[in-house]
Amino acid sequence: MHKKSIYILSIESSCDDTGAAILQNDTVLSNVIANQKIHAAYGGVVPELASRAHQQNIVPVVQQAIELAGISKKDINAIAFTRGPGLMGSLLVGTSFAKSLSIALNIPLIAVNHMQAHVLAHFINEKNQKKPPFPFLCLTISGGHTQILKIINYNEFEILGETIDDAVGEAFDKSAKLLGLPYPGGPLIDKYAKLGNKTAFKFTEPKTSNELDFSFSGLKTAILYFLQREHRKDENFIKNNLYDICASIQYTIVNILMKKLKLASTKTGIKNIAIAGGVSANSEIRKTLKAFENSLGWTTYIPNFEYTTDNAAMIGIVGYFKYLNNDFDEENTMATSRLKINE
Ligand code: KG4
Ligand code: ZN
Repeated sequence: MHKKSIYILSIESSCDDTGAAILQNDTVLSNVIANQKIHAAYGGVVPELASRAHQQNIVPVVQQAIELAGISKKDINAIAFTRGPGLMGSLLVGTSFAKSLSIALNIPLIAVNHMQAHVLAHFINEKNQKKPPFPFLCLTISGGHTQILKIINYNEFEILGETIDDAVGEAFDKSAKLLGLPYPGGPLIDKYAKLGNKTAFKFTEPKTSNELDFSFSGLKTAILYFLQREHRKDENFIKNNLYDICASIQYTIVNILMKKLKLASTKTGIKNIAIAGGVSANSEIRKTLKAFENSLGWTTYIPNFEYTTDNAAMIGIVGYFKYLNNDFDEENTMATSRLKINE
């Protein structure tokens, strides 16, 4: 029997990227993203500027997604949008737009939790991409999030551990800032680390009362004091040792992540391990995970890069699952800046 196609338009505007995608069932037809370059000049995301840029980008981005998908507005069966978590001013732009369009087109509205979307991006239908079986563990790492989750089902998530202060992406970006690198510094640390010695410098790893929780604010302070101390001895210390410093910082951060992930796997007995979020682009993390396939018997799941950083396709896949469950939202649904994974 021929299965009827469901077309979902999805919108993501939780932080500084405006995204729109069209999915045909679990397959992505288009996935458009407008990055906001403006924040680089300020060394971080400026919320006020982010919401303004969303205002400018949202209409063209949605139009482009529909055009690239080769469908017309009347083919769309539902609109999915990011309800939270994220920056309120940014979320409001996507939320209001989605609501208005759902009324105009007279089609259902589906509110999506951005954190669930990062995880469920693994279920986007892609060639050469395997989907993790339940239950699996997911290390969700980005500029805003750091969690180890146990994924029991499409709509059942258990937080095993999370950061008590900075997210791991912030740890990368703030360290990079201390080194005078532009925002976002994570990808640059990764790049320079490839040229350096990862055991050149040692940074103490932070302690947390729950052994699966993370803490990164202490590391940032340790790096700051280390750089100040070395600067007193050699004012060109950063310049002369940039690659080694980057390699050592990255090694420390990746070690912290992997130790906890290993512990979570041992405690739960789960060896299907997924990663999600922008930081999963990091080459040291990918290399280490691959090595654990042999040494620890893990099967690891890493989505294509375009679905790891903030994007609308991941909002669309959750929208599709919710559509199949007739799980729709009313027009009075509110954007929610703080939203837990199970909400
Ligand atoms: O998921 P994402 O695009 O946006 C958020 O939801 O935060 O993640 C962005 C974060 C930034 O902190 C960025 O520096 C970091 O991911 N990042 C990396 C790498 N690529 C992106 N961090 C380390 N190594 C990378 N290769
Ligand atoms: Zn995100």
